[in-house]
Amino acid sequence: MTISDDILYIGVNDYKTDLFEGQYPVPDGMAYNSYVIIDDKTAVFDTVDEKFGDEWLLNVEKVLNGREPDYLIVSHMEPDHSANILRFAEKYKNAVIVSNAKSFVMMKNFFGKDFADRRKEVTDGDTLKLGKHELTFVTAPMVHWPEVIMTYESTEKVLFSADAFGEFGANGGDFDGTDEARRYYFGIVGKYGAQVLAVLKKASALNIKTVCPLHGEVLTGENVSLFIDLYKKWASYTPDREGVIIAYTSVYGHTEKAVKLLKKELEERGCPVCVFDLARSDMFKAISEALSYEKVVFATTTYNGDIFPFMKTFMDGLVERNFQNKKVAFIENGCWAPVATRIMKTKLEKCKNVVYAENGVTILSALNENSENAVKSLADELCK
Ligand code: FEO
Repeated sequence: MTISDDILYIGVNDYKTDLFEGQYPVPDGMAYNSYVIIDDKTAVFDTVDEKFGDEWLLNVEKVLNGREPDYLIVSHMEPDHSANILRFAEKYKNAVIVSNAKSFVMMKNFFGKDFADRRKEVTDGDTLKLGKHELTFVTAPMVHWPEVIMTYESTEKVLFSADAFGEFGANGGDFDGTDEARRYYFGIVGKYGAQVLAVLKKASALNIKTVCPLHGEVLTGENVSLFIDLYKKWASYTPDREGVIIAYTSVYGHTEKAVKLLKKELEERGCPVCVFDLARSDMFKAISEALSYEKVVFATTTYNGDIFPFMKTFMDGLVERNFQNKKVAFIENGCWAPVATRIMKTKLEKCKNVVYAENGVTILSALNENSENAVKSLADELCK
């Protein structure tokens, strides 16, 4: 990836990790981005995951072409970016480590060292001149850790955005970056909408031509405003997809039949609809889509006096990420004492601005004329 003559990419692609952060499937791999600015002084932006230390240190060496790095800017202490700080510091003994006070506490905890003799603590608005390039630091607490700093380079108008504006997938892959950016955003940052909005407010004062995130492709041109606009919607929990998402679990296929009927009825009424079988889908894809659609239908069975386990995980994931601003409907199934709708409502009771559909569907074991008519009435209401 080329950013400019003086700002160079030195990150790595990871095709080894199956679950990023131990839970998010990454079938297209993952990128740990790192950058260098070459000027009178040289600055390296962030290290990479531990497994790629050798490759990354070689990248640093190659790009510096015999020069020593003057600074290592540490944006974020999560180990996918910080794991090689100590190796870097031991190799380049004169390099100054630049970060905020909270990061140095974390360095002490991770590495047993806080680089007291060679560190530069920075906070909001502090600057660092490299030559013709000047860096301004922007704190971004809880996007998505407390110590995060972004850096704005004012000569080339580049924002080094830490985890923000990232995406799943190795760089150079052939996939829809927006979809993977959505799954990444809601998975990792989705809980912290208020904090993301606070950083977007700070960023609105900057003229940004290029965004260099810690994961995924560098953003330029129209992609900068596209991603900023998407982040404004996502962070404010404003649906950006029209229509209905139906998320379901089904044990013997009867609940699934009701879901398929609802899908057909919605499509016949011209309503966009997408469906997730929660037992067989990427749970975080389902969660990110449910946070994006206007209307969500939850369909599940009563199970052990509760709801089916995959639905429980799904709903917990939504609530944890501040699920709100939705119209919601329920389809429940139970052979003798259906309680799923009541339990699902209880799960959502602390969510803001959730409006329940007037129509719901109760299936007593299998669809019959009554429950089929209830599905059709629900379709009418959701398509209004
Ligand atoms: Fe990519 Fe929060 O680390």
